[in-house]
Amino acid sequence: MELLIASDHAGFEGKEALKGLLREHALTDLGTDGPARTDYPVLAGKLVREVLRTGRPGVLLCGTGIGMSMAANRHRGIRAALASSEEDARLAREHNDANVLCMGARKLRPGAMAAMVRAWLAASFLGGRHLARTAMLDGPGGAA
Ligand code: RB5
Repeated sequence: MELLIASDHAGFEGKEALKGLLREHALTDLGTDGPARTDYPVLAGKLVREVLRTGRPGVLLCGTGIGMSMAANRHRGIRAALASSEEDARLAREHNDANVLCMGARKLRPGAMAAMVRAWLAASFLGGRHLARTAMLDGPGGAA
């Protein structure tokens, strides 16, 4: 699958390791390109604009995943899930139709993150009552 990925400096090493582990997917790396200090809202913005333009799923890494998920969810049409287990990742797709997966690279080993990405991509949105809810996120009753 064609996948987008980005991180800040705290997620840089994890991003590089993850790219090595997810070789079955075509990953487009939107940065950051080294360990120099960066700002997660900038990298999140870069990735979500590409998710919205291409419809491809995106992975965002920072130290905790928290800043990336906050920043990504500021963008209408983005459903970014902060996940810390394979179950979170699966449910983020099944229930929330997450188009961005955020993880804490200082919290999780690369192998665990790769397993989470795989669980997320392998799952399908269940629709039904979940569709009604995700529609609310960008409509009346959801985002102001
Ligand atoms: C960077 O030090 C760290 O604050 C950032 O990667 C992230 O964890 C923020 O949520």
